[in-house]
Amino acid sequence: MSTNKLDISLTKELEVLRQEGRGKSPERIIEQYIPARGEFGPRYKMVGSNNEFIRLNSNSYLSLSNHPELMAAADKATNEFGVGPGAVRFIDGTFIHHDKLEKRVAKFTDKPAAKIFNSAYTSNCGLALTLSNKKTHWIGDQLNHNSIIRAMRISNIPRENKGIFKHNDMGDLKRCLDEVSPDIERVIVIFDGIFSMRGDYAPIDKINQICKAYDSKFKDGVIAIVDDSHGIGAYGDTGRGTSDFCNASPDIIVGTFGKAFGVNGGFIAASKPIIETVRQKADTYIYTNPLSVADCAAAIKAIDICDSDEGLNLLRSLKERTAQFRQGLERLGKESIEGPHPVVPLMVRNTPKTHDLVKYLFDHGVLVVGLTFPVVPKGDETIRFQINACHTPADIEYVIELLSNFD
Ligand SMILES: Cc1ncc(COP(=O)(O)O)c(C=O)c1O
Repeated sequence: MSTNKLDISLTKELEVLRQEGRGKSPERIIEQYIPARGEFGPRYKMVGSNNEFIRLNSNSYLSLSNHPELMAAADKATNEFGVGPGAVRFIDGTFIHHDKLEKRVAKFTDKPAAKIFNSAYTSNCGLALTLSNKKTHWIGDQLNHNSIIRAMRISNIPRENKGIFKHNDMGDLKRCLDEVSPDIERVIVIFDGIFSMRGDYAPIDKINQICKAYDSKFKDGVIAIVDDSHGIGAYGDTGRGTSDFCNASPDIIVGTFGKAFGVNGGFIAASKPIIETVRQKADTYIYTNPLSVADCAAAIKAIDICDSDEGLNLLRSLKERTAQFRQGLERLGKESIEGPHPVVPLMVRNTPKTHDLVKYLFDHGVLVVGLTFPVVPKGDETIRFQINACHTPADIEYVIELLSNFD
């Protein structure tokens, strides 16, 4: 047997992707982490380059990935329990670390219970499998993350049981709710907390009010779900995410340990019956090995730090550096999308210029992501900068200086 014929077909498909501009560029490879020195934060060495790079494209907003206490917690768990769980959760693959992390997440999000997953992506898919039946209707924001779009697709409901509202447009959300068939018993409204390409946030307080107004029309009500992967740990006065910022908590919170918490994995936090149903019905939870004990131990430590004075200090530095960067862009007359989140988009609005700027920054030791069509609509070409707590005032000044020399 050979895969020759398949290889030829796939090569053609890849060529089409490339021609349409949808192909991903080759992955750059990090080969060394260099801790902070003097007035500068950490740097990275990349395969094929002699430069040292500052990362302005990391989701590790609180810079906990290299925190000695997280690494020590992961090492201790590994030394005591080994590197892998040996089985799925319901076949004795549940270790004390899984249980502790679930309780810690429930406490942190102020929900009665939580379940952890290998990622936020599989959390969303698992939630869709849990909540959907023939009488469920899903409504989502137009700019929702791919994992939510995929979750809505695998929820196995007919097309007419789905609605999409214009980004953050509450009037359009009401239109979607008005269009739900009276036969429907359960309505799910799902949205990103922070929209990762833009750094803007969902107005959870307003969404909750609207869901509440329609709740009595449906047997199981209208359920609001936030996927706060980019908010949790990094946003709001206490780092509890978009709910904290909006002072309003939706019914269900999905999140990741892979961004502000600096580790890996995802979670769903909600009522006890919802979480027990997740445990019984979410295939992406049931039929796959769980996170390693090392990931869980590090994630518990990350939440503990986030919930301490040290966490508040990290959050303060993150806010200060983000404000410094935004002010720098403003001084240079560069266009961005307003807001305090550490995702700071620079609107370039031109594809070749976006590519040139990404290359210019790379040549000067700065890692960023350029977003061009079809990832963003034509005319919305952007460079996404992500500020992390480890960035120093000198780091930010260096990048602003670089930007001032590019036109
Ligand atoms: C809203 C949202 N959900 C889910 C994810 C994926 O998170 P994870 O890496 O934990 O699957 C992301 C990250 O890109 C995201 O922005």
